[in-house]
Amino acid sequence: MSVEVKCSVCGRISRKVLDFRCSYCRNPLDIKVLGNFDTARINEHNFSLWRYARFFPYINEADIITLGEGWTPLVRFSQNIFFKLENLNPTGSFKDRGSTTLISALNRTVKESGSFIAEDSSGNAGASVAAYAGRAGLKARIYVPEAVAGPKFQQIQSYAAEVVKVPGARSLVAEDAQKPEPGKLYIGHILHPLFRDGIRTLAYEIAEQSDWRSPDRVYVPVSAGTLLLGVIEGFFHMFRSKVITKMPTIVACQTRQVSPLFNRIKNQPYTPPAVLNSVADALVSIKPPFLELMVKKLREANGDTTVTEEAEIINSFEELAKNGFLVEPSSAVAYAALKKQRDEGIVSSKDRVVVVLTGSGLKTTFGLH
Ligand SMILES: Cc1ncc(COP(=O)(O)O)c(C=O)c1O
Ligand SMILES: [Zn+2]
Repeated sequence: MSVEVKCSVCGRISRKVLDFRCSYCRNPLDIKVLGNFDTARINEHNFSLWRYARFFPYINEADIITLGEGWTPLVRFSQNIFFKLENLNPTGSFKDRGSTTLISALNRTVKESGSFIAEDSSGNAGASVAAYAGRAGLKARIYVPEAVAGPKFQQIQSYAAEVVKVPGARSLVAEDAQKPEPGKLYIGHILHPLFRDGIRTLAYEIAEQSDWRSPDRVYVPVSAGTLLLGVIEGFFHMFRSKVITKMPTIVACQTRQVSPLFNRIKNQPYTPPAVLNSVADALVSIKPPFLELMVKKLREANGDTTVTEEAEIINSFEELAKNGFLVEPSSAVAYAALKKQRDEGIVSSKDRVVVVLTGSGLKTTFGLH
């Protein structure tokens, strides 16, 4: 069992655990797991995503930094609709899957070099990386947009990470975080392959919790695409290994305001609005670095994509909350997409569907009066 990390454009192999871009052409890196998924190698006594530790060969079990992430409930909502409750992860979002693999893989190297880690995010990923750095005893510096506020920012501060506010566009925050500085190791979750790699456990769990039967459709909200790419890779891994007999149709769900993937797949030009003001405030990647890779993988997986309007997202958020599922508006986008496709006749009541509820509604200010 091993993983192959290679440039998504020129194909050159990367061997350094800290690499987040191709050392030759600077393009982002793709990651693929080699070797078969084998259900006999699951540690059934472990009730976190580390029950799949054997499928992460680059991590020594002794180095694992865990807060009990993963193995989140798959709850039946109605006859054939199931929710995967990623909001119940330790820091309140699916990002903990990426943080635990990334920090577990790097923490020894970072400690030995006496460095600190740097990440750019104003939201769930910043909070998650800050928490896992804290658990590992590492210093973390999180670069955030100057205008950041609200519960997610408070959460980042509570984990005692150093916070650097950067004025201007979101892309400048990323640039600042990546600027070389003595002692600084940039581990940004959007680019780092080992963050994305942790997300494949979400696919493993959906399959295992369904007795190794693939759902017909899996709905995921998409911004930078770490979730989408990780879930596709996880299902592909099980499919290649003949653990599941068919790939589910994975549906990439975007908002009308932030829809670069949807537009690209539908061959329509995409121009972002001058100002983003969607309630789905975690879905902000108007120019995701992995756009081409997402297009390629979604096509290979025979996936689907859709966009929803603000009113549909708000309606879904409210319906979920009324039923006891208080999630982020950005998570409600996936449910809104399912409802839309049901109305359009693309999904039938016979289809077994999983909607990934990515983040906790306790972190949102939407709906507060
Ligand atoms: C709650 C929530 N859902 C979905 C996403 C989208 O994930 P990705 O950026 O990996 O596409 C994010 C990303 O920030 C998020 O915070
Ligand atoms: Zn390259």
